[in-house]
This record gives sequence, structure tokens and C-alpha cells, in this order.
Amino acid sequence: MFEHDTAAHSVEQYFRQHEQKPLLRLITCGSVDDGKSTLIGRLLYDSKLILDDQMAALGRDSKRFGTQNGALDFALLVDGLQAEREQGITIDVAYRFFDTAKRKFILADCPGHAQYTRNMATGASTADVAIVLVDAQKGLLEQTRRHSFIAALLGIRQVVLAVNKMDLVDFQQAPFQAIVADYQTLAQQFGISQVQAIPICALLGDNLTQLSSKTPWYDGASLLETLENIVPNQAKQQSLFQMPVQWVSRPHASFRGYAGTIAQGQISVGDAVDLLPSNKRSKVSQILCAGTPQFSAQVGEAITLCLADEHDMSRGDCIVGLPEPSMADGSAGLTLSDRLVAHVLWMHEAPLEIGRSYLLKLATKTVAARVVEIQHQLDINTQAKLVSAHLGLNEIASCVLQLDQAIACTSFAKSGYAPALASFILIDRLNNATVAAGTILTPQAPAKTVVWHAHAVNRELRAQHLRQTPRCLWFTGLSGAGKSTLASAVEQELQQQGLHTYLLDGDNLRHGLNQDLDFSDAGRVENVRRMAAVAGLMVDAGLLVLVSCISPMQAERDAARALIAQAGVEFVEIFVDTPLILAEARDVKGLYAKARAGQIQNFTGIDAPYELPKKPELHLHTADQTVDALAQQVLQYLKVG
Ligand code: ADX
Repeated sequence: MFEHDTAAHSVEQYFRQHEQKPLLRLITCGSVDDGKSTLIGRLLYDSKLILDDQMAALGRDSKRFGTQNGALDFALLVDGLQAEREQGITIDVAYRFFDTAKRKFILADCPGHAQYTRNMATGASTADVAIVLVDAQKGLLEQTRRHSFIAALLGIRQVVLAVNKMDLVDFQQAPFQAIVADYQTLAQQFGISQVQAIPICALLGDNLTQLSSKTPWYDGASLLETLENIVPNQAKQQSLFQMPVQWVSRPHASFRGYAGTIAQGQISVGDAVDLLPSNKRSKVSQILCAGTPQFSAQVGEAITLCLADEHDMSRGDCIVGLPEPSMADGSAGLTLSDRLVAHVLWMHEAPLEIGRSYLLKLATKTVAARVVEIQHQLDINTQAKLVSAHLGLNEIASCVLQLDQAIACTSFAKSGYAPALASFILIDRLNNATVAAGTILTPQAPAKTVVWHAHAVNRELRAQHLRQTPRCLWFTGLSGAGKSTLASAVEQELQQQGLHTYLLDGDNLRHGLNQDLDFSDAGRVENVRRMAAVAGLMVDAGLLVLVSCISPMQAERDAARALIAQAGVEFVEIFVDTPLILAEARDVKGLYAKARAGQIQNFTGIDAPYELPKKPELHLHTADQTVDALAQQVLQYLKVG
């Protein structure tokens, strides 16, 4: 009985010790073939962290897929995916969990191939330290620079530089030193404050878990020992408390708690906090961690906070601590901003569309955002600022983003390198793909001189006077499809019913308001944005608005829909479907002939795309119907006439 208790006690003690071991989040990056997977596999093997069955599988796999003539191929241990095995590259971010007597590690193994930069950014966003692998023979490559830059962009300030394949340079000191010197220069440029360099041979295990006799000139520690002893950046703990609200917990009427993960700093019961965006002040009355009350909590912990008084907060709002008097300008706090200057790393094959509405996700908040300006592109190799109006795959630029509402955020420099509220991703509205990652350089507070007025005479009142329900009918289709003819016929009918209308015609607006816009993608994005904005004002005036413009891109039509819907007004997307061959045969304005002759560029349907509407409310086939019949279909849909 006694013995049993002791055993249970020591097991529990063991688990507690294990639980309390500090955690280090690592990311490995480097170029293809620098030997990342081999390094990790070897590290796990040498630190006896591989289970028997994994060893057996490795033996089998090494014979089948291995690149080491049947000997153990450690890369196979790590490269979990079949496709990787076949191509010999690491594709996705693979997370490994391992621990030693001193520390727990979570390691994100990131791909080296250029097109997988996105995964690299995913891995880096949570890591404390990056292990950057460099091939001793090849030195720093473009990928080394790119990955280091992304790591720095996402807040990593500590790098372990593993100079691999030292066997290929006969374990000599000079090539190692040359690479270290090169990397130091680069680290300085990127703001990486700490670089620890280690000469290794991942394949043979030199300086991985034990110091190698082949590098007597090296007086540092082995890789594993270095990782065990690294002190992660303290900034996250020291900075001001910040927690984005993930959800509001209301299990019953008498309890309201705000659940979230602490982005930085710490909090205790009784601490005063500010609530954003309401800018109200409150006090912490209770902290729950996994349902258990506790006095205080730290960065990284998932908690539920209760406040001393009632507040109306929702997902995406922020709870922040108050600056200590010692924080000179209180600047560690958050800013409410709707205009950001930010570094944007583009991660998608389709380039950035200036003016297009993307979704910006920062911590738990998602808002609509447009890149309104590329200030300059950054040359990864030279750090030069390049003039560019274009941002493609893997390119980085300093951009100005306009958000449709102010969010609580902070600049990267002031975030104490705890990037949760200083970095964001951009998401394509159509396919939900993550197209970019960014970090905020300067959050600009909304100009206090511009405030929204809610006037006494509002849309409801105006609509009441006009005795109608405002609506927006959006006609889209190719040039010469018959949009304007149809919209005009519908408008005449509506007028006859005594309704108040306005027809916004793309061609007509391009004579005035949109005179400055061309037919480039950016020109069209802005054209459609303005059409939607004017339509928004007109429905606000109580009118039935008919919009007729090609609006060839689904994203912009969706943005128009969102804008109108935001005002609580119905948006009816009407696809005027005339096949290109027919529109071209009619060629009412003679523009198709000119486009074919090369006299007009970017002509929709010829050398510029038209994206078919995905879910229009009305899909009208014009080929075999009269204008009257088509107009009747629209009126029927509207239940007018
Ligand atoms: S949109 O693409 O930005 O929505 P919008 O509807 O305003 O276009 O204007 C299209 C009209 O401009 C066409 O009906 C046509 O008369 C004229 N136009 C002139 N150049 C072009 C072009 N390159 N592509 C399409 N339309 C053009």
C-alpha cells in the first residue's frame, strides 16, 4: 500500500515536472537540399526520442525510398507525406513535439521550395527561435534570405545558424566563418538581434547532440544543448496586457465572461483594463483558466475574464492593460486604426489587386480591407526599395491599407515583437485562400476631423415619403450584352408604376466621376467601387437604383453586394448573359472590331476576363428573348407590375 502510494506520487511528480518544463517553439528553415529533414530526424534519433516501431519503419522505408544506399535515411523519419518522399522535398509544415530532460520543444519543419513560402509564414508566426540551415558549400542562398526575412517579419529575433554539410568542406573553420559573417550582416539588416552559429553535419551527427572531435576550433555548444539553453525573448511577458476576445461566454444570465488567449503581458484580478473599441474602462473581477479561478494569468494562456461591471463586447474586441507610469508614452497600448501602413508578403499566384476588397484577419477580428497604395517593393537580396505597382508571388512591399472599420492594433515595433495584434493575413473573399501575410509598420488613427453623422432624416423616413422600398438592381455582363437597354426598359416600367428610380450607367459615369479611370484591373476595381458607393448613397436617398456596368470581377460585385446589404437594402444581381460571339456579332459600338484589330487593349471578353456570376439572383439569357420579355422577368422577380 505504502509502496503503491509512493509510486503514484513519483509518477505524478514526474508528470508535474514534465508539465512545468519550459516550452520552446522552433521553426526550421532554409533552402531545398540544405538538409533540414535529415537534421531533425538525426536530432530525434541521437536524443533517443524515436520509438522502436518508428525505428523499424525507418529501416524499412530507408531501403525502399532512402537516398543513403539502404542505410538509415533520417529525412524519411520527418518527411511524413508520401508526395514529399517521391519528390524528395518537404511540402507542408510538419509539427514535431519532442522533449529532453530540460525542455519541451514544438518544432515546425518548413518547406524550402519557393512556392511554399505560405507554409513557412504559418510556422514562423508562432515560433520563438528559427533554426536557419545553410549548406557549407553553397553559403547563403536567396531562400535563406527570404526565409530569414519572413521569420523576422513575423517577430522572430533569435536565430540558430546551423551550417550543415561541414564534411564537404573538410570541417574547416574558414568557410564556416565566412558564412557566419555573411549571415551577421543580413541579420543586422533584418533586425535579428541574436545569432548563434554552429558547424554541423546532420548526416553524420557532428555537433548535434554531442560536440564533434572534427571541429576542435569550435568552442560553442552542440545544437541540442544550445536549444535547451536559449532564453526566449522576454518581450512578450513584459509588455502590456492584451487579449483579443474570441467569444463571449454566457452559460447563464448571471455570468458573462470574455474568453480568449492572452496575446501579450499578464493580468491579475483587480487590474484596471481598457476595452476597445468602446474605450471604456473596467476592472478584472475574476480570471478562469479551464474553468478554475486563478489570481493571475500570463501570455499564451487561454482564459475567461470577468469584469466588475456590465459591458457590451463581442468577438474581435480587445481587452488591454493600462500603461505603467514608467512606459513613457503609454505607447505599448493599442491604437484604433482604419488605415495601416504595413509590410505585405504576397503568397498567392494571382497578384495583388490594388483597390480590391479582401478580408483582413488580425487576431480574432475580421474586417474588409483594400490595399490603396504600394509605397515600394522590397528587394530581398539588397534591401533596396523598388518602385512598383505590382505585387506577385513571394514578393514583399510596404503598402497602405484602408479598412472599412477601425480595429484595435499596434505597430510591430511597439508590439514588443509579440505579433498577435501587429500582424495579419489577407484572405480572398471568393475562395477563402490566404493570399498574404503582413505586419503593421504604422497604424494611423482615423482622422478625428471626419466623423459619421447619423442625421434625423434617414433612409427609412425618405423611403416612407417616397412610399417605396429602396433596392439595388445590379446588371452585369459583357460589353454590348444589352445591360443598359434592359436596365432602361425596366426603369421605364418602374417609373410608370410611380416608383422613384435612378439608372447608374457605367459608360455615363466614365464621362464624369470615373473619367480618371482606365480599363486596367485596378481601374475597373475602383470603377466598380465608386459605382457601388454612389448606388449606396442613392438607396440611402430612398431610390430604386439600377446599376449597369460590366463589373467583370466577382470579388467587386460581392463587395458591392456587401456594401448595399450593410445598409439593410436588397441587392439583386442580374446576369445579362449574352454569349461573346453574339455580342461581338452585334458590335453596337464597333468596339469589338477595334479590340480585335488591337486598337483597344484590355477589352472584356477579348483580352481581359469576365468572371461568370456565381450566384446571381437572376440569370437572363438574351439570345432568344425580346427586351420586353426580359424586362418582365425582372419585374416579376421584384413583384412589381
Ligand atoms: S467595367 O469593366 O469597369 O465595369 P464599365 O461598365 O464601367 O466597365 O464600362 C464599360 C464600357 O466602356 C463598355 O460598354 C464600352 O463601351 C467601354 N469600353 C471602352 N474600352 C473598354 C474595354 N477595354 N473593355 C470594356 N469596355 C470598354
